[in-house]
This record gives sequence, structure tokens and C-alpha cells, in this order.
Amino acid sequence: QVEGLIQNVDFSHPSLNDSLEGEIQAFLINEDQLHTYDDLTKVNPVTPTTVLKCLQARYSVKVFYTHAGCTLVALNPFQPVPDLYSLDVMKEYHYASQPQEFKPHIFIVAEEAYRNVQGQLEPVNQSLVVSGESGAGKTWTSRCLMKYYATVAASSSVMKSQDTVERIERRVLDSNPIMEAFGNACTLRNNNSSRFGKYIQLQLDRCQLLVGASVQTYLLEKTRVTCQPANERNFHIFYQMMKGATDQQRKEWMMSQDQCFAWLPNSEKTVEEDCFDETVEAMVHLGIHAERQQQIFRVSVMPVF
Ligand SMILES: Nc1ncnc2c1ncn2[C@@H]1O[C@H](COP(=O)(O)OP(=O)(O)OP(=O)(O)O)[C@@H](O)[C@H]1O
Ligand SMILES: [Mg+2]
Repeated sequence: QVEGLIQNVDFSHPSLNDSLEGEIQAFLINEDQLHTYDDLTKVNPVTPTTVLKCLQARYSVKVFYTHAGCTLVALNPFQPVPDLYSLDVMKEYHYASQPQEFKPHIFIVAEEAYRNVQGQLEPVNQSLVVSGESGAGKTWTSRCLMKYYATVAASSSVMKSQDTVERIERRVLDSNPIMEAFGNACTLRNNNSSRFGKYIQLQLDRCQLLVGASVQTYLLEKTRVTCQPANERNFHIFYQMMKGATDQQRKEWMMSQDQCFAWLPNSEKTVEEDCFDETVEAMVHLGIHAERQQQIFRVSVMPVF
């Protein structure tokens, strides 16, 4: 996104370069002000140096979101940020008369799209595009957006309670652990790297309440099942089953402890996604019954000859 913002600047002419260099230095001299630029369109001149310095300054004061016109630049904090996504913060942005005047946040973008749907403005269907390189935080951001809509587009009784989501909202959110178990893997860049793209559609009724969802996936990296780059892993589900299955399940799936397995690369690495119970629980919430689960897990450990 930052690249897109600055790609039209022409740095080729020598005298232009000199004067531009002077402007850049003049801008950067106010070092302690750089973190205050909450919209990159206010940065002048817009160059890779000035933009990145501002983002860096904001990152160092733990501010992770910055507007760039109608785009939002999100930096990955690589650590949990207390209260940044809490129910109270969601409510603050949702009930504000002018949320865009608040600090830049993914909830501003989410709320703007929601209000456009509410206002029945054309186009009534709204899309949010989350892009970035591997490890940038796309999956995290998509989860935040889904949680936001599962909360604000839930019936008011749900919104009032501390228990943010239930019923259809719970099921929408539970699609994430399942898709990630079968479609994400630990790579050199990201312990929870999505090896597929997805298009998530959240459906609202006339009262703007969440009534359904559909997810289309594409470009799943199927080759990872049989072949992984050095020090990367297979899809999470394999390790979840190996670590989380009961003795009885191991027997049923023909993966008993004493069997001699050729372990795939980096199998000893434990990541927080190795959580079999969570996957099974999500399957139950989504109505995938026990027999179907068995079929899925049996296929997941089917030996490849
Ligand atoms: N807003 C955030 N707050 C805290 N941690 C975050 C945030 N965004 C990302 N992370 C951390 O960074 C990790 C990588 O993020 P994520 O999996 O969303 O990347 P991605 O863009 O989906 O990458 P890939 O293209 O490989 O799937 C997350 O597992 C999480 O630990
Ligand atoms: Mg991802």
C-alpha cells in the first residue's frame, strides 16, 4: 500500500533531486513530530523516506494504524496490544457520530462500510480488500473485521451482553479455526501462513443484522501435503491430530504411537495453532457431525504412497 502511494513520484531529474532532498531534510528535522502524521496524505513531500520515517515513528510510540487517504496502512505489532480490539473499543467506533475523527483504526474502515450498507447508498454491497506480504497481518485483520461485524451486526441483546457473539455470529467466527487448520502452515516467514486466498461474504438482512456468511477459497497450495520447503511444515491439521488425538482416535485413524513415522520437516516445532480441541469444537459449532468429522480426519492422515 505504501508502495502504491509513492510510486508516481519521479526522482529522476538531478536538480529536482537536489531540491527534493532539501525538502525531505526540512521535513525530517522535526523528528519528534513525525508520529503525529495520522494520514500519509498530509506528509510533504511524499517520498519513500518521509513516509517510512513517519510510519516508523508511529510504530515506536505503539501506534499501528495510519490513514493514507481512503486506504488504511496497518503495521504488524507482532505482540498482543491490550484493549486495541476490545468490545468497548468496538462500541466506541460503532456508536460515534463521526468515527473518522477518531484515531486511525481498522474499525473506522469497518464502520464506514457498515454505514454505507445501512444508508442503502449505491453500491449497497461493500467490499474491503486486505492485502500485504506474508506475515503482514492480513489473516489477523480479517478476523478483527469479522469479529467487529459479528458484534455490531448482531441483535441488540447480544451487543449489550459481555458475551459478544453467539448463534450465527459464533458460527461465522468458527469458520476461521477450521479454515486455518486445513489451509495454514508454519513457514519461514509466518508461523500461521495462509496457503490459500479467500473471499468472505457476510450477508446482512434489511435490518443490517448478520444472517449468513459464505467463504470462497482459491489457490490452495495442495503440493504442501506431500512436499514442504526445508524447515517449513505441513498444514496445521496434521500436527494437531498427532498431538491432540486420544488413544482411541489414534487407533481408529491408524496412527498409533509405536508406529514408525517418517516425520515431515520441522515436526518438532510447536506453534500456538497446534490446537486440535479448538478445531473439533469449531466443527461441532458449524454442525459438522461426529461421523463426518471422522471421515475428514481419516482422510487427513491417509498415507501417501
Ligand atoms: N494487529 C495485530 N496485533 C497483534 N499481533 C498481530 C497483529 N497482526 C498480526 N499479528 C501477528 O502476526 C502474525 C502474522 O499475521 P497474519 O497471519 O495475519 O499474516 P498474513 O498477512 O495473513 O500472512 P500470510 O500471507 O503468510 O498468511 C500473527 O500470527 C500474529 O501473531
Ligand atoms: Mg494469512
